Amino acid sequence: MAERQDLDGRHIVLGLSGGIACYKSAELVRELVKAGATVQVVMTAAAEAFITPVTLQALSNRPVYSSQWDAREANNMAHINLSREADAVLVAPASADFLAKLVQGRADDLLSLLCLARPIERVPLLVAPAMNREMWAHPATQRNVAQLRLDGTTLLGPDAGDQACGEIGDGRMLEAEALCEELIAFFQPKVLAGRRVLITAGPTFEAIDPVRGITNLSSGKMGFALARAAREAGAEVTLVAGPVHLGTPRGVRRIDVQTARQMHDAVLPEAPLHAVFIATAAVADWRPVAAAEHKLKKDGSGRPPAFEMTENPDILATVARLPGAPYCVGFAAESHDVARHAREKRLRKQVPLIVGNLGPATFGLDHNTLLLVDEHGERELPTTDKLTLARDLVREIAQRLTTP
Ligand code: C5P
Repeated sequence: MAERQDLDGRHIVLGLSGGIACYKSAELVRELVKAGATVQVVMTAAAEAFITPVTLQALSNRPVYSSQWDAREANNMAHINLSREADAVLVAPASADFLAKLVQGRADDLLSLLCLARPIERVPLLVAPAMNREMWAHPATQRNVAQLRLDGTTLLGPDAGDQACGEIGDGRMLEAEALCEELIAFFQPKVLAGRRVLITAGPTFEAIDPVRGITNLSSGKMGFALARAAREAGAEVTLVAGPVHLGTPRGVRRIDVQTARQMHDAVLPEAPLHAVFIATAAVADWRPVAAAEHKLKKDGSGRPPAFEMTENPDILATVARLPGAPYCVGFAAESHDVARHAREKRLRKQVPLIVGNLGPATFGLDHNTLLLVDEHGERELPTTDKLTLARDLVREIAQRLTTP
């Protein structure tokens, strides 16, 4: 499958103000270009003290602008021309001084000038602050940040951690990959704004003895993609994850569990607090009644060990029956006859929407095909990568919330 191009057709003005985090902006240009964007770099004089325009020109494949008197523009109005072309202006790093300038509407260099001159309704401004933790915590900076938010500016970060000055605290610029992910999220339609979404993902693991257990091949990729897509759509997301090797999508609250009962116990108190519950987890149907205390050994008889099994709670069906249940979405991973099994599962679990897919054709892979089954019938979301499918499914769910 081709590499994702989530910023295809987007033109980004990337502004750099002065700060050691400028070195991360070189990587950010690469990330943005890789995601399909065209990038116009604009630097302040202070930024040029940290990184050269040559580096950024080479990475963006465009001449860098830094002066409002740049004679290359026929009308000599770089601030107007550059800001009119942009789909967004991202200032990364945004120094404490630059934030203060934005708040005051100062315009004594090209970058602040174009931020002021941009059509405010059409060209959003995002800033990624980067500064020493004392500068960040200072009431003046916090006042400026609050005012910037009121003015419609989107703040990305900052992060906490080690700082170039040797101190530890809030004020690090987000990493390039995270900034790129935030920008991609920024452009997604906010169809779940203000909603809370609860998602289960991955397999469960039911111990047989201290070293073995019953699990399955679910990778958790679909559930994690849904968590990312729901958060991109403006939702507050809680992700209850079985044992998987996946990083938590940005801005998502994650609760890790091992067994079906732990997943059940994590989900139940959360469910009434959420508007939507999406059960993507491949929960083990059965578990050993009790895990053996010690590793089960071969005893030389050739007979396999016998252990009693018992049924796990059905998390989805339990949530669907709660008074004031969230809008419930179940998954049906089948090996054949997806539509029939999905229809039956919808009725059996009493949920409004079941999403069918072929387990062996998708477990562990990056793509999938989904079949949506609700009371009105069926609709296929054709084969594509899981994040695209997740975004489509989020839109389908959002529609059903507004027009049941
Ligand atoms: O019954 P079956 O496992 O085929 O149903 C699949 C759907 O039910 C999925 O949405 C899965 O997450 C959910 N499920 C659950 N708890 C179980 C078994 C399945 O929430 N114990």
